[in-house]
Amino acid sequence: MDCQTDDTGSLTPMELYEKLSAQGDKVRTLKTEKAPKPDIDAAVQLLVKLKLEYKTATGQDYKAGCPPSDGPTLQDNGPSVTEGEDLVNPWNVTTTSAKGVDYDKLIVRFGSSKIDQELVDRIERVSGQKPHRFLRRGIFFSHRDMHQVLDAYESKKSFYLYTGRGPSSEAMHVGHLIPFIFTKWLQDVFDVPLVIQLTDDEKYLWKDLSVEECHRYAVENAKDIIACGFDINKTFIFSDLDYMGSSPGFYRNVVKIQKHVTFNQVKGIFGFTDSDCIGKISFPAIQAAPSFSTSFPQIFNGRKDVQCLIPCAIDQDPYFRMTRDVAPRIGYPKPALLHSTFFPALQGAQSKMSASDPNSSIFLTDTPKQIKNKINKHAFSGGKDTIEEHRKYGGDPDVDVSFMYLTFFLEDDEQLDKIRQDYTSGVLLTGELKKRLIDTLQPMISAHQQRRKLVTDEMVQQFMTSRPLDFNY
Ligand code: TRP
Repeated sequence: MDCQTDDTGSLTPMELYEKLSAQGDKVRTLKTEKAPKPDIDAAVQLLVKLKLEYKTATGQDYKAGCPPSDGPTLQDNGPSVTEGEDLVNPWNVTTTSAKGVDYDKLIVRFGSSKIDQELVDRIERVSGQKPHRFLRRGIFFSHRDMHQVLDAYESKKSFYLYTGRGPSSEAMHVGHLIPFIFTKWLQDVFDVPLVIQLTDDEKYLWKDLSVEECHRYAVENAKDIIACGFDINKTFIFSDLDYMGSSPGFYRNVVKIQKHVTFNQVKGIFGFTDSDCIGKISFPAIQAAPSFSTSFPQIFNGRKDVQCLIPCAIDQDPYFRMTRDVAPRIGYPKPALLHSTFFPALQGAQSKMSASDPNSSIFLTDTPKQIKNKINKHAFSGGKDTIEEHRKYGGDPDVDVSFMYLTFFLEDDEQLDKIRQDYTSGVLLTGELKKRLIDTLQPMISAHQQRRKLVTDEMVQQFMTSRPLDFNY
């Protein structure tokens, strides 16, 4: 990128933006250094000219720290995205509403699209499969460019899936499984390659952990991920700490991304400050890189045009807004996205389940007894205080955590509907509702533990070895 030339006619909004940021810095430096007045005047004049051009090109006023984007997406996403009382970013999710985050508002804020009935129907038509309950129930609720993926798929053009996990501890909870359960379904239904990034580097940078601990957690977490049933011939799981240094394709993409995103931009998107370590500042490029098929030459045979589809929780979207912004400038297709809601904490949908608060979570290692006790003791109830009142007025399923969990895990739509009706009318008591959840989760988690036991070290090793998959590119 050349910030010195004056010819701005052919610049993209992003290049103009970068030039403007640099020019702003220059004016400030000249002023603090008390440079000769004509020099300052000339620099200010250029700044004004650039601002005008920027406004013409984007229709918006230039604002430092707020880069332009491929839609209205980046206009309003500060580091901590607050809408009313909702806070949603990769590190924090909270709201004051017991019903949880207002996801419709989030769609508007992030500039994504709603997964409406029409899209769900189309996925059903194209895949020939009944849509997953996460789609039927709006748990995956937002997307970017999913129609484009389906258009391409219909004309026999393949795509690949990318998802990931930050391995911050050995303990994974049921909420962590949501993207993986859904990704497994997508892989089965569309029969496409899948790459899974374990960001042990990210966790080292953000947490008080050693590099080796993070790497060990990555391998441990890989076992839980494998236990979700991924096809070993179609899935590559990688630790950043291992893969970054060993794959020429991957690192080349990382530096391409690094060259095309400025500090100002990541400040605007993620809220980094001057005192954040440079590892954090450059990390978004590493989470972006797997969105491009050339990061995996062993799988895609060097092809750079295979589109990527990323299922993830909506809090990861800032990374991929950045990725989508960079993609055309480095000659790659933009990744498409499918966003999920958060998995609520036992205490209520004001926050998401968090592994660092054991009472807020049901872990994949919990015994049937622990599951039962946690739900009975901690699951926030939308029921009334006394049985008499509950029978008379009924409960509120929309704030009831046990009911919310059932919407995630109970497969049968009719049963779920019946539970909702009976709870609302007061026929079903809180204790009975909790029992339904306990009866659903206990076998589900035991089955997961059984499958995890069958995952051998050799299998983990194989999943995590860079190799071609069962696809011809
Ligand atoms: N940053 C994510 C986390 O902390 C991990 C991650 C990396 C990810 N790549 C991803 C999640 C792609 C979803 C999709 O959990």
